[in-house]
Amino acid sequence: MKPAEIASWISDAQKAFSAAKDLDSLKIARLAHTGDKAPISLASRGLGSLSPDEKASAGKLIGDAKAEIAKALATATEKLESERDSKVLLEEVVDITLPVQRTHRGGLHPISIIKNEISDFFIEQGYAVEEGPELESGWLNFDALNIPADHPARTMQDTFFIEPIESGVVLRTHTSPVQIRTMLTQEPPIYVICPGRTFRADELDATHSPVFHQVEGLVVDKGITMAHLKGTLDNFARHMFGPDVTTRLRPSFFPFTEPSAEVDVFFNGRWIEWGGCGMVNPKVLATCGIDTEVYTGFAFGMGLERTLMVRHGITDMHDIVEGDLRFTRQFGVGL
Ligand code: FA5
Ligand code: MG
Repeated sequence: MKPAEIASWISDAQKAFSAAKDLDSLKIARLAHTGDKAPISLASRGLGSLSPDEKASAGKLIGDAKAEIAKALATATEKLESERDSKVLLEEVVDITLPVQRTHRGGLHPISIIKNEISDFFIEQGYAVEEGPELESGWLNFDALNIPADHPARTMQDTFFIEPIESGVVLRTHTSPVQIRTMLTQEPPIYVICPGRTFRADELDATHSPVFHQVEGLVVDKGITMAHLKGTLDNFARHMFGPDVTTRLRPSFFPFTEPSAEVDVFFNGRWIEWGGCGMVNPKVLATCGIDTEVYTGFAFGMGLERTLMVRHGITDMHDIVEGDLRFTRQFGVGL
């Protein structure tokens, strides 16, 4: 065991430790130069077979060499650990300025939002919300509303008939049959609205859809006049479109109201039809068993898609019906 030999063990270990690129390769170098089979360890174990004199000097040489090797290992470990730590800090850095990956919570379609809003507005004034079926009897959709089979008004509203045709069942073309359902089952005073889905064989274009929504309003009470109708509609329009909205009543015709009018709203530089209205035709009241000497009433039916379009400046119906989430999300979740 020559001092030169021991010195080479030290320098071999130092070289191997400083050559290690990471903690894993340092571990391999450590086992090779300090493990059980490393020359220094074998020499250390061999000390026992030496004479006491030799043992003392060789023991010191080996002890010093072990200390040198341990020092080199500590230096390399410290260097590699700090390199690893700063690498982790760089790799795992979180950029808090990046946009968040948001999970979208489900939400209501703008048509549902506006439906709820209209219901709340009328409920506050004491109205009840009624519902009727989307598959409706032809009698309720037409006849009871004073639209007989040969009446031109039936072709005005292109109807989806349900097979077999003899069943007389149609997809309701408007929410007005709910007027009849209500008057047949309730005594005046009646204050109801009915928002719901309606169907017509209309082409989908910028202002029409074959499936759309209306909100019906019906009031039957003593002394109801056209002034009440106009006041109610003005109030409704201001609630939906803001205090500065301009509306007009345009004389029109519906078999179930007399007199009748269309309600227009000024939008995008022109008048757009919002809905129809009028005083309930006494013939309709009589059909439902209401005393026309005592009671009068008014009714109206507005398009919900139209309401949404005017209120939000939407110029194309496609946006409302196509269900593109980029459109819908602009209205918030509405939950
Ligand atoms: C009616 O449906 C009558 N029932 C309204 C009424 C009720 C009058 C009570 C008097 C008393 P009209 O066909 O005009 O009327 O339709 C009413 C509204 O529904 C229209 O003004 C429009 O806003 C909307 N509407 C009609 N057809 C479509 C369609 N294809 N797509 C979208 N909205 C429509
Ligand atoms: Mg109309």
